[in-house]
Amino acid sequence: MSNVIAVVNHKGGTGKTTTAINLAAGLTRYSDVTSSCLLIDMDPHGCATSTLLGKLDGEPPARSIFDVLRRAITPQDGIASTIYDENIDILPANPSLESMAKTQITDRLSKVVESVSTSYGWIIIDTPPNLGVLTQNALVAADYALIPTQCNGLAVPTLQHMKTVISKIQERQNVWLQLLGVLLTQKDGRTPLQRHVRRELGQVFPAADIFKTVITSNIKIEEAPANFQSIYAYDSGCLGASLYRDWIKKEFIKKHQKLEKKKVEKREAQEAGLEEKKK
Ligand SMILES: Nc1ncnc2c1ncn2[C@@H]1O[C@H](COP(=O)(O)OP(=O)(O)OP(=O)(O)O)[C@@H](O)[C@H]1O
Ligand SMILES: [Mg+2]
Repeated sequence: MSNVIAVVNHKGGTGKTTTAINLAAGLTRYSDVTSSCLLIDMDPHGCATSTLLGKLDGEPPARSIFDVLRRAITPQDGIASTIYDENIDILPANPSLESMAKTQITDRLSKVVESVSTSYGWIIIDTPPNLGVLTQNALVAADYALIPTQCNGLAVPTLQHMKTVISKIQERQNVWLQLLGVLLTQKDGRTPLQRHVRRELGQVFPAADIFKTVITSNIKIEEAPANFQSIYAYDSGCLGASLYRDWIKKEFIKKHQKLEKKKVEKREAQEAGLEEKKK
């Protein structure tokens, strides 16, 4: 089972949570992999948690990923079902998660993910807007990193930094981590995507790593979470729903399949190398 996706970008407000929750809902609808999905909310602000549990400004959940990470409860006891989608469960966030950020522990989430991975077709991890311990835990636990970013030239230095962090994690802690891609979000629908933005992004990531679909700004995308719904359930015919749906069906799933194949080949090559050494 290797469908664990960390949604990361240390810049705030780039569409991480919006993409994580609509990706989760889209995958349960449109992918061939078993339809169940677990969303792990690693952001102490808990925006994904509020939407999926249907509690805006409510009490934080009594049991959360924080309790699981500090080993006070089992992962199974931390998981809750959601009102958002019957096929999506959540390991919710709690503001106390912030205290974990002060530790040096970066491999705890990977053990949690391992212990629940056979129960879900997909595991999506939403992360906070920084590169601290919580985001590092997500990257160490994940098979894939997905980077939502806004569509301006100012995003480029941030992405450069993100790329370096991913490379370090690949070298030191998670050789199986692969970049799924960069998703441009919140583009002003009235103006064409400035050519220089793609060109500048192209200096950081190869074109194959930048999804062609651009998620434009769409009021329905903003409204859906306040109604505790995915964009497809809120208004399946709106532009936002068709953009996320097209991205998942036409690009995300294909890219995932391609990278899975690459991973199998790498594993086989590694095993063949070990066999060779034994002789
Ligand atoms: N395509 C879009 N169209 C309109 N609004 C959007 C779109 N994508 C995201 N938003 C809105 O932009 C804001 C920031 O998005 P979101 O919370 O997903 O970003 P984030 O990267 O998770 O932020 P943070 O770093 O604070 O966790 C939210 O109010 C969200 O509803
Ligand atoms: Mg967020």
